[in-house]
This record gives sequence, structure tokens and C-alpha cells, in this order.
Amino acid sequence: MPMNPFTLRGYAMKEAAMREYKVKHFQLKGLNGISDLQIETHLELYVGYVTNTNRLNAQLNELAGSGRASSPEYAELTRRLGFEYNGMRLHELYFENLTSHFVELNHDSLLYERLDDAFGRFESWRRDFVAVATMRGVGWAALYEDPETGRLSNHWITLHEHGHPAGFRPLLVMDVWEHAFMVDHRPTERERYIDSFFANVNWAEVEHRFGCREHDGHMSTHT
Ligand SMILES: [Fe+2]
Repeated sequence: MPMNPFTLRGYAMKEAAMREYKVKHFQLKGLNGISDLQIETHLELYVGYVTNTNRLNAQLNELAGSGRASSPEYAELTRRLGFEYNGMRLHELYFENLTSHFVELNHDSLLYERLDDAFGRFESWRRDFVAVATMRGVGWAALYEDPETGRLSNHWITLHEHGHPAGFRPLLVMDVWEHAFMVDHRPTERERYIDSFFANVNWAEVEHRFGCREHDGHMSTHT
């Protein structure tokens, strides 16, 4: 006899609820132009996303367990997953791609070469990234790699969940919500924050993400 799909969903949610996400820790004191208090405040917000992701999974598990997986409440909480999950993971990617030991991206690196190829010049890529990051609205700017083709492209993500190109690999992630700079700058000074962001990019981490493509077995022959 086939199993009720909602029962299957219930098992999946129970498993998710049992594997709680842990808060990651980042050593980001002494950044250039981004104060310790700014980072501390931002990390507190990040913890909220981890907490809410775990809470959401627990609530969904409870609803599924009590036979209410087809309820509107279950549907709305499920829709909320994208916001909380991405809020958690994007912040982790963001903090991981910052460092107080800044070193420019090596001009001889494969990533530099690919950015040169994709945008004409590395500086053109950066100008495009900044253009995306200064778009009006609340969200994120991200450099992605398409694993199918190896193409690099900049994207805007509204809130935390709208605009991710499906299956693309995030290489460089920048939070441009106002809470990312409001301790140090006024809301109208996003450009100053962007300058500071680029003075603290952990290019070694970005290159590591870029290099991971060689190990996942999905690289296309079109590159
Ligand atoms: Fe943030």
C-alpha cells in the first residue's frame, strides 16, 4: 500500500528537526573600515537566522506529526524556509569571505583570469559587482559560477531568497542590507561600506570556493 505523501513529508521534517544547525564562529576583529561593533551586531543577527531555521523545522515537524501537514499554517511556514535558510547560509558565506588579513587576488590566479575573460577586465567585473551592490533595495550582491558552463556572473538577491540562479555556486557574497553597515555609516553611505568590504575580502576563501568545482565532478567541457 503506497505511503501517504504527507507521512513521507513528516518523516523528512522529523529528520531535519533532529539535525539542528549550529552557530558558526568567525574571527573578524580588526577589519579595515568595518568596526568590531558592527561585526558583533551583525553576528547577533546571524544567530537569529540559525535559531529561526531550527525553530521552523521543529514547528513543521510538530505540525506534520500531528497530522496537519496539509494545513495553511504548514504551507506558510514551509514558504518561510527559504528566507530563514538563506538568511543563515548567506551570512555564513559573507562572514567567511571577510578577513582582517587582506591580500589582493593574485593576478596570475585562475579566478582572476576567468573574471578578466568574463568581464573584459578584472576592474570591469568589480565595477559591475559594485553596480549590483548599490541597487536600491534590501538584499545581497553575489558573484556566482555556473557549474554547467563555468561562466561567472554577478547577481542581486532580494531579501535572502529571491534571485538565486538555481544550481549556481556562490563565490563572493556581500550583504547590502542596511544592518550590515548601519553601525558605521548612514543608510545613504552604502558606497563607503562597499569600499570597506573590498578592503577585507578573503580572496583565499573565494578561490577555495572556486577551486571546489574541480572536485564535484560537474564541470562542463564548454569551459
Ligand atoms: Fe546581514
